[in-house]
Amino acid sequence: MRIEDDFATKAEAAEAAEDIPSNPHLENSIGDVIYRRYGRRDVLKGTLAVTASTALFGRQALTSARAQDAAASSFNFTETQAGVDETHHVASGYDADILLRWGDPLFEDSPKFDPASLTAEAQLRQFGYNNDYVGFFPIDGASDRALLCVNHEYTNTELMFPGITARPDKNDFEEITRDRAEVEMAAHGITVVEIILKDGRWVPNRSSRYNRRITPLNTEMSVDGPAAGHRRMVTRADPSGRRITGTINNCAGGITPWGTYLTAEENFHGYFWTDKKDEDGKRLRKGLGGDQNASYERYGIPANWYNWGTYHDRFNVEKEPNEPNRFGWIVEIDPFDPASTPVKHTALGRFKHEGAECIVNSDGRVVVYCGDDQRSDYLYRYVSSGKVDPDDKAANMRLLSEGTLFVARFNVDGSVDWLPLLFGVGPLTPDNGFESQADVVIDARLAADLLGATPMDRPEDVQPNEKTGKVYVMLTNNKKRQLTGSAKEPRHRVNVANPRAVNLFGHIIELTPPNGDHGADKMVWEIMIRCGDPAVEAVGALWNEKTSADGWFAAPDNCAIDADGRLWVATDQGKGWKHTGKADGLYGVETEGALRATSKLFFRVPVGAEMCGPCFTPDAETLFLAVQHPASDGVKDYEPFGKERSTFEDPATRWPDFKDNMPPRPSVIAIRKQGGGKIAG
Ligand code: FEO
Ligand code: CA
Ligand code: CA
Repeated sequence: MRIEDDFATKAEAAEAAEDIPSNPHLENSIGDVIYRRYGRRDVLKGTLAVTASTALFGRQALTSARAQDAAASSFNFTETQAGVDETHHVASGYDADILLRWGDPLFEDSPKFDPASLTAEAQLRQFGYNNDYVGFFPIDGASDRALLCVNHEYTNTELMFPGITARPDKNDFEEITRDRAEVEMAAHGITVVEIILKDGRWVPNRSSRYNRRITPLNTEMSVDGPAAGHRRMVTRADPSGRRITGTINNCAGGITPWGTYLTAEENFHGYFWTDKKDEDGKRLRKGLGGDQNASYERYGIPANWYNWGTYHDRFNVEKEPNEPNRFGWIVEIDPFDPASTPVKHTALGRFKHEGAECIVNSDGRVVVYCGDDQRSDYLYRYVSSGKVDPDDKAANMRLLSEGTLFVARFNVDGSVDWLPLLFGVGPLTPDNGFESQADVVIDARLAADLLGATPMDRPEDVQPNEKTGKVYVMLTNNKKRQLTGSAKEPRHRVNVANPRAVNLFGHIIELTPPNGDHGADKMVWEIMIRCGDPAVEAVGALWNEKTSADGWFAAPDNCAIDADGRLWVATDQGKGWKHTGKADGLYGVETEGALRATSKLFFRVPVGAEMCGPCFTPDAETLFLAVQHPASDGVKDYEPFGKERSTFEDPATRWPDFKDNMPPRPSVIAIRKQGGGKIAG
């Protein structure tokens, strides 16, 4: 497979379509039934789910809330204006302080940031690139002293280094020397840093004993669960199959009820590399997996986005064919023990993990919801075998080692079934290539295919709400979703939970577990919002009619629930913002009452950036947001810039410093209300 030629950055490459082996179990999907009965017009408009599920199944599957004039927003702020420009915008009455920028020192001895001559040694002592998920951990219950954990998902080579002309789709990496590749590696991973609230502003404490960088260059991790020590996890550097150097493409994550940090390895396939090329000189992307070829192709390995494999053999699939099996997991980190070894929990399955949000179930077990972010991939849930013990953190840290992984099948009657991925159960047997539970978790996607899971429109964050017991699933978009799908790719056919063909704008599904039981085999589902512009009929959007022209959005991605149980949604349109004319942002979304499915814009990012985070302090007085890859996505559609691609020398914005010779810098922001008080309170 090749990355499509029109992708100018790695962010866009990450969105690129992948060829997926056809799935024979989808031949008679609900999409066929609906399409035969309702036809092209309704499907294109996205109204299918209203008409079809109401008529076919006797229930109104979609919200159609009509706001009562008297209803008051639960989000008390004045909406900011949608649009795109070189900087960020927050609702009036709030301060948005830059807390941590790429390259900022994390230790007292950290070298000063010098963008003209980056080194891995310096980067290992500095804040990393492309901040994504943010986790806040109060120290001893304090509200003014805490640890912040931040994921550094990936790097934008052309914005980090001067003189880069290579593009990820050209497989031309001569400009990426070993030194530069190792700067990239050191800029990936996670930052743990203590922050202190001083005179109303959060600042990093560089002398804290907790501060730590975790990277794919030099951090040793252990492995537990069914795949630990399995032959498919063994490499020349690790005959035990239980020790892995580092973590990559850490997207979103979660905070456990026992105060540890979960980080999700998402597009890990992009880091694997081959020296083999086709007749046109293109690096191969298929047929390289040997006896693991079905697995390689299902995960898109190798994708050749980074040339680390030129210098580090483990990223070269000819030299270390099992190394890709050691990524794509959920990793647990104890931020309060800077000497601790992070653990890759294989019981939670291997896929392109978006996040890992937890909830303690009513019976004491911990439940973790996980999306697999690729077009027409699946929604998962992990349920621990043991129960949370509030007084035993060490025991709790084993809860992600033993439990059951489930995948979701959305039914036409408005129910969703959670199907267990268990070796020996149903089709997960040696006849189908599964020899053990290790094979099931390593090839969770192949197992879920056989179980008949529902292919979704790119599941991103999945967020349980402790206050209401409901769960929100962000489905960001899927331009490959088709009315009928092709014989080669039937998984892309519309289905009842993903009803819009060419879904450019995404939707949000609400799950309701019975009696708040997140371990239940069956739940109820409903599409709460179909995103996009409600004023354009062809878009087929569905919002509460009280949503303003500034308030609607597209491409829901990260999300959070605040202390009052309110849902906040961050967007990532990639270069697709040209379809909305809006930069990405953070929105307050009503989930209850007459205003259900109303949205309000609180914050928006500078051009080319994506909105990540969001993370609220327990007292709700600070909101941390991560602005990822400023000046990167879709910059040619930004009229004041208008060029194909930003570079170090000529970026579309120099946010947040706006200084000559300082490139744009991904940064974490701390937002507080002027004069104090709760955010939107
Ligand atoms: Fe890294 Fe799915 O966003
Ligand atoms: Ca994301
Ligand atoms: Ca994203």
